Amino acid sequence: MCLSTLVMAQGKMARMKIRPAQRITGQVRLPGDKSISHRAALIAAVAEGQSLLSNFSTSADCASTLDCLRGLGVSIRREGNEVLVEGSGADGLRAPSVPLDCGNSGSTMRMLAGVAAGYDLEAILTGDESLRSRPMKRIIEPLELMTAQMRSENGRPPLGIKGTNALKPISYELPVASAQVKSCILLAGLRAAGRTEVVEKLGATRDHTERMLRWFGAELETRTVVANGSSVEAVSINGKANLSGRDVKIPGDFSSAAFLIAAAALLPGSDLKIEDVGLNPTRTQFLSTLRSFGFQIGLLDCRDESNEPVGTVHVRAKLHPPESQLPGPADVPKVVRGSLIPQLIDELPLLAVVGSQLSGGIEIRDAAELRVKEADRISATVRNLGAMGVQVEEFEDGLRVAGPTPLQGATLESFGDHRIAMAFTVAALLADGVSEIAGSDCVSISFPEFFSLLESVTDHS
Ligand code: S3P
Repeated sequence: MCLSTLVMAQGKMARMKIRPAQRITGQVRLPGDKSISHRAALIAAVAEGQSLLSNFSTSADCASTLDCLRGLGVSIRREGNEVLVEGSGADGLRAPSVPLDCGNSGSTMRMLAGVAAGYDLEAILTGDESLRSRPMKRIIEPLELMTAQMRSENGRPPLGIKGTNALKPISYELPVASAQVKSCILLAGLRAAGRTEVVEKLGATRDHTERMLRWFGAELETRTVVANGSSVEAVSINGKANLSGRDVKIPGDFSSAAFLIAAAALLPGSDLKIEDVGLNPTRTQFLSTLRSFGFQIGLLDCRDESNEPVGTVHVRAKLHPPESQLPGPADVPKVVRGSLIPQLIDELPLLAVVGSQLSGGIEIRDAAELRVKEADRISATVRNLGAMGVQVEEFEDGLRVAGPTPLQGATLESFGDHRIAMAFTVAALLADGVSEIAGSDCVSISFPEFFSLLESVTDHS
């Protein structure tokens, strides 16, 4: 890393200095997908026999999942990015002797709760300050309907679970569009006697759990049902299935790739290839949205690995800013809302940064879920864009960003949220002058290599 560019200052809170960039060039491969790694570990842990998970995510969140599974008696060996799981199979999971610490990871807590609910054991799931403020009623309610006993104060962690071998199957309409909640119910459904169904009436969310369960031998069905007058997807799982351990090759993390893609798309003259990245269509809406704005992004070498689509993303940015080629009136914001939102939920702060560079800017709505992520991502994005000189209007469920706006270097806050730190690092690359990201070390929650990898493909002005 070029220290004159990215400097980790000594002190209590890490602050990263970011100099403006000229362009992004090169070819990279990224650590394994966080969402897929969580699921591979959780499902391998309850299967019969060994599973070798390769290119396992380097994120702190996925390390939390492995630690919690060890707490439930699962034997796990990790060497670098290879993880060997001895599935508990017929022996089942053991009651943990201490509370299970899910760290900063909502995915760990919500999905692990679904897994633990299907065993005769008691467990307490807790986490860091951010996680202890996040809503868990969304999983408490369906798990109680399945007859697990749940304890919490005001629906926030710590979460007490008394599971049972005799879970009741349910059919459940998701009140929030959440893959974590859907996954929690399907994972519990794996242990219920009968068919458990989840109806995604608010739009389809990422389907990694369904794909991974099938990879390990579970039987799932999808059907179209009518809810609120429109056709929506319902997925169901046949309970009491015997899963067999299986090796899993985990693709590069698309949500990590998104930061590099956006930087390359926005810096004229860039040419970047990201190889072996996950291209599951329920995750890549960010790409489709950028393409619809006129950015040039190609896909190469597309194939399936371990039941997940994978390929190479190739971003090229013309020497002229993309907005000069965009059709339509310049003063009208591009609007992103509705059922698209769950499919680019983690990319929305970054999309707001991209929007600040588009003619007419961008409006993002129906995204109130952003307020209950690792931080309130709407208010964090509004604060940081404002600090860089962008006019932003805040709504309860989103924001409107004026563009194109030249960004000013500024002191930016991560708010302890990895995706905010990375989105505003990208913004800082485009800015006039040096910026600083306060609390930049939180990138390790999903992408510890972010700064060094970015530096390896960045040409500075
Ligand atoms: C995730 C689902 C999303 C996402 C999170 C990871 C997953 O959360 O924001 O980073 O792996 O299922 P919700 O499903 O709660 O929206």
